[in-house]
Amino acid sequence: TLQFSNRHLVLPGMVDIHVHFRGWELSYKETLEGGAAAALAGGVVAVGDMPNTRPHIRTAELYRRRMEEGSRLPVVYRLHMGVPRDLAELDAARPPTVKVYPEDVAEFGWGHVEALMRRCAGLGCAVVFHCEDPSLFRDGERPPEAELACVEKVRRLAVDTGARVHLTHVSLPQTVDAARGWATVDVTPHHLLLDRENCRLGGLCLVNPRLREPRQRRELLARLAAGLVDMYATDHAPHALEEKLSAAPPPGICSLEVALPLLLSLWRRGVIALEDVVRLYSYRPARFLGVNADPTAGYFTVVRLEEFAVRGEEFAGTCRHTPFEGFKAFGRVVATAVGGRVYFRDGEVEELC
Ligand code: NCD
Ligand code: ZN
Ligand code: ZN
Repeated sequence: TLQFSNRHLVLPGMVDIHVHFRGWELSYKETLEGGAAAALAGGVVAVGDMPNTRPHIRTAELYRRRMEEGSRLPVVYRLHMGVPRDLAELDAARPPTVKVYPEDVAEFGWGHVEALMRRCAGLGCAVVFHCEDPSLFRDGERPPEAELACVEKVRRLAVDTGARVHLTHVSLPQTVDAARGWATVDVTPHHLLLDRENCRLGGLCLVNPRLREPRQRRELLARLAAGLVDMYATDHAPHALEEKLSAAPPPGICSLEVALPLLLSLWRRGVIALEDVVRLYSYRPARFLGVNADPTAGYFTVVRLEEFAVRGEEFAGTCRHTPFEGFKAFGRVVATAVGGRVYFRDGEVEELC
């Protein structure tokens, strides 16, 4: 086709609803600017940042402050608010989305989560779940049952409260099936491509939810191929390399720079269509965050169609280690435009206009 003959492809801007831009006290893991550079290097024009910063964003005041800082970044910035102890903070902050962690369930209990969902149903916020039931964690392990039990619990609460629910970074094919009709779901590049057998880089492979067995991963990929997954999101979660290589590595994987090339590699392999790439990582997430990703408004990315091996040292963010090291990806991002401004070209993040 024409696209292959000239070796470039123009796509709408990618939108990632699940990133951790860190900053503040966790800037040593990645700065806000580093996170934005990683996004632009990956063709991502808009992000949904997570509230588990230090301090955790649980008040209207912190929410407002972080939004103000995020709005100065070269990517379009949205923020999921953390669970407030006092739900009146939601009325003050009016966040479009709230993020619930297993740690919130452990700290505040399911009763508080139910009250939050009821409040959000009234205010019109969507509730985003990292869905793992912490009561099923056993000495550092987080079994698949923790995800399945949480999903069943949240389904009942969604029915009771009428809250709009999104389940993020779902790691099991059964979760995709269980969500049908009442929740939307996203999957990460690592749960689609890495598993307990093919990821052998120790702490670099550690993430929440855990990487699963090869069979579970393949069945998750089959759900994606069958069109049953709503969105694709990185859960870009930077940590310092020394932390990841330590005896007690923290969970989290950096992948903003390569998420689009990894998704395009599935198109290249015939697993999904190009329309799926755009639906999963642009249209649907743009609608979810309420942001523009339309090329006619100056939001686009250009990729050069070639196979390449992932190299962490080529990353543009603060975090430059990856369990995808050496992995074959397809389509190098050469330019990313946000609102008509081209920020990235040929290996250098720069502002050209
Ligand atoms: C996340 C992080 O580091 O912020 N880590 C991860 O493995 N996904 C937190 C979390 O989602 O539990
Ligand atoms: Zn999470
Ligand atoms: Zn996360």
